[in-house]
Amino acid sequence: MTTLITGAAGFIGFHTARALLARGEPVIGLDNLNDYYSPALKRARLERLATERGFTFVEADIAEMDQLTAAVAGRRIVRIVHLAAQAGVRHSLDNPHAYVRSNLVGHANMLELARYADALEHMCYASSSSVYGGRTDLPFRETDRVDAPVSLYAATKRADELMSHTYSHLYRIPQTGLRFFTVYGPWGRPDMAYWTFTEKILAGEQIQVFNRGDMLRDFTYVDDIVEGVVRIVTTGHVRPLEVPHALYNIGNNRPERLNDFIAILERLTGRRAVRQELPMQPGDVPATYADITAIRADYGFEPTTDLDTGLARFVAWFRQHFNV
Ligand SMILES: NC(=O)c1ccc[n+]([C@@H]2O[C@H](COP(=O)([O-])OP(=O)(O)OC[C@H]3O[C@@H](n4cnc5c(N)ncnc54)[C@H](O)[C@@H]3O)[C@@H](O)[C@H]2O)c1
Repeated sequence: MTTLITGAAGFIGFHTARALLARGEPVIGLDNLNDYYSPALKRARLERLATERGFTFVEADIAEMDQLTAAVAGRRIVRIVHLAAQAGVRHSLDNPHAYVRSNLVGHANMLELARYADALEHMCYASSSSVYGGRTDLPFRETDRVDAPVSLYAATKRADELMSHTYSHLYRIPQTGLRFFTVYGPWGRPDMAYWTFTEKILAGEQIQVFNRGDMLRDFTYVDDIVEGVVRIVTTGHVRPLEVPHALYNIGNNRPERLNDFIAILERLTGRRAVRQELPMQPGDVPATYADITAIRADYGFEPTTDLDTGLARFVAWFRQHFNV
């Protein structure tokens, strides 16, 4: 039952690969190891994966169809967890083409790959809470209208959902898109606030706090996300669907104030944050909050890690990994 994981050297891909390998399932990890953030961190994750039985890594770019085709040639792919993407909302203001390339061309290429993968049983792919744009009626539900994205990143993720729907309609490819809500945890992403805040607070440097910290985020611990991803990709659809494509929110269902989040980090590091107050950033949204009724009903998904516990694990990992 081989699973192809794209973005396997990335944060969520690494944890998903570990979880599948722990179940004794073979994994082919694919990543282009780009330098959006430290390739050394991506390689360190791969070194961990290389020690596990059943893991194979292929360096390839999903935006290059020939590389993708060569990567899977002769392999019997039963499941796909497609996580490779250009992530980050703020970066999409300065580097729009990276998003078009990886998230639109790359996603279309993955769908073409899935179309001709004869043994494929299910493909799960990453969407994002950012598709909900600046909606203020909380929590966000899968039935909400999502046609007003406020960043190019969000627009590409919504486009991915639409392309996936079309492919499932045309070629009966069983797919599930998961709208992730701010994922954090050990081996995380250096471009995200939980990482930069921890790094700067420990170094006594100033942190940039947008909108006076008056923002709500549904922070989701990575193990909870991975539990959901693995459950869905290994189970497939649990209800009859006219078009075999489903979309679910996957979040903690407990939004936290950014200021409380900073206070937890201050307590965990034993240091006071030096704050630089800045206005709301273009492309950012004031609140995210996942309604998880659907994924709970269909897959029994239940996040179990609260923010204090999850951040304590992150800070402990960070201090040990960087010896600070
Ligand atoms: N972490 C979050 O809070 C969050 C929230 C919402 C959605 N997501 C989505 O979840 C997925 C995984 O996110 P993550 O946090 O692990 O990010 P990440 O950046 O750590 O992982 C993505 C990986 O994909 C690889 N990649 C990017 N473009 C590629 C390409 N063209 N070809 C091959 N590999 C490529 C990168 O090198 C990276 O290792 C992404 O699709 C992201 O948009 C993440």
